[in-house]
Parts: sequence; C-alpha cells; structure tokens
Amino acid sequence: FASEGPSLNPNRILNVAHRGASGYAPEHTIPSYALGEKMKGDYIEVDLQMTKDGTLIAMHDERVDRTTDGTGYVKDMTLAEIKQLDAGSWFNEKYPEKAKAEYEGLQVPTLEEVIQEFGRGSRYYIETKSPEVYPGMEEELLRILNKYKLIGPNAPSSKVLIQSFSPESLLIVHSMNPNIPLVQLISYSKPATITDEELDEIAAYAIGIGASHTKIDEAYVQKVRQHDLLMHPYTVNTREDMEKVLDWGVTGMFTNYPDVLEEVLRER
Ligand code: G3P
Ligand code: CA
Repeated sequence: FASEGPSLNPNRILNVAHRGASGYAPEHTIPSYALGEKMKGDYIEVDLQMTKDGTLIAMHDERVDRTTDGTGYVKDMTLAEIKQLDAGSWFNEKYPEKAKAEYEGLQVPTLEEVIQEFGRGSRYYIETKSPEVYPGMEEELLRILNKYKLIGPNAPSSKVLIQSFSPESLLIVHSMNPNIPLVQLISYSKPATITDEELDEIAAYAIGIGASHTKIDEAYVQKVRQHDLLMHPYTVNTREDMEKVLDWGVTGMFTNYPDVLEEVLRER
C-alpha cells in the first residue's frame, strides 16, 4: 500500500562500509569498496559530488585536494580533468604502514562505474553532498539508479538507501520517488537532543537518522527508535564504541573497519 512507505528490518544490524573499508584503503576508490564487500559490509557508502559537466563522482570533499594529487573544486572541473587525478597515493604517503603499490594512480570513480563494478548484488548507501552547490544532482542520481534498475518496479528491495544532511535534498528525492528509503543525517555541535515534533517531521519522509556517535546517547537512540526510525551513528571505528552504540539500541552504523564490526556482531 503506497502510503506505508519503505521500511527496513530494524532487527538486522547494518554494517555500513564508510567510504568503503577506508581504514585500510584510500576512501571512495574501487579497492576500498571491494574490501568493504570482502569484509562483509552490508552497504557500500558512497558520498557524491558533481563535476562541471554534470557527472556524479564518488568523493567526500567539495575540493579534490585532500584525497587526490590535484587542487580545486569538483564543480569547476570536468570529468576528464577529474580522471587525470591520482586518488590513491595520498593514502600511501599518509599511512605508510597501510600503503600498497596498487593504490598508486587509482582514479576517482564515477557513480556509474561503482555500480557497474559491484552490480545489483551489492547495496549502496548514497549521500548527496553539498546539494545546494549542485542543482539537479538528485535527478541525475535517480536517473542512474533507474538506468541500472536499482530502484523502480523490478528493483530488488533495499538495494539503495539515500542519505543527506540536507532535508531539502531528501525531500526532492522523496517527491520524485517515495519508495526509496531515506536517512536524515544530522550534525550536532553539542550533545544531541531531538524533539517529538522533529522526529515526526523526519518520519514523514525518512526511515532513519544518522548522527555522530560522539554526540548522541542512549536516551537519544531510544527516542528515535520509539518513533520507529532506524538509528545509524557515524563513524564508529573501535570495538569499544561499537559495543557502546549497540548497547544503546542502534540498528546499524557507519564504520571504516567493517571487519571489526563483523566480528563484534558475530560475538554478540
Ligand atoms: O554519511 C554518514 C557520515 O559519513 C557522515 O559524515 O562527513 O563522513 O560524510 P561524512
Ligand atoms: Ca557520508
């Protein structure tokens, strides 16, 4: 029944490979995502930026500087220019103990390339980053997801979750396709609180909330859960913190170490 909207089983704790298994490989590269899959991540997390010529690429920052050998804003660069960049060597330099020769010279993948690589057998937890900078990014995202049949009438269920810090961006997606499960990310600068009204408002279009595990507490998680929303804290990287948020009742989490989370979940 259409008005019921999408849902995910809250009893299945989701292991989200944050930027891939980015604790071990350069974030948002094919090897990082592949490692996330190998380490039993349930979802590949993909942050999106959009090039000057309108291609969605996998990158966290608006600028290419931190994760490539280039400089400047993605919005000012064509895809051809982005493809010239080395998206792996920075990792080897920053983390010599984790460096691998195969990371040198890796390209920034487009969203389409990620989907072509991992196909419909994988799950994607996709974030619209800086949507105010990229008008039309939601339309382009849905065009691609439809093209690869990850959403739409014959799509397997829950292959795609869309997340954003921007409610406006999620509402655009929701207006185009109310069947896609959405997660509202919230950035808190101090210990998090949330009202019933805010939760009702979010529950009207989203199935869950994502927030930093360093800002939330058990009461916050329980309140979110009482509103039948999923709770996915980010970015939970140590065994201790994983146990902490699981004890609070979260329904999944983003981690740079999906192998560690897999082990923690197996032991519980
Ligand atoms: O998307 C969840 C988490 O990744 C949000 O923070 O900055 O890593 O995208 P960020
Ligand atoms: Ca993200």
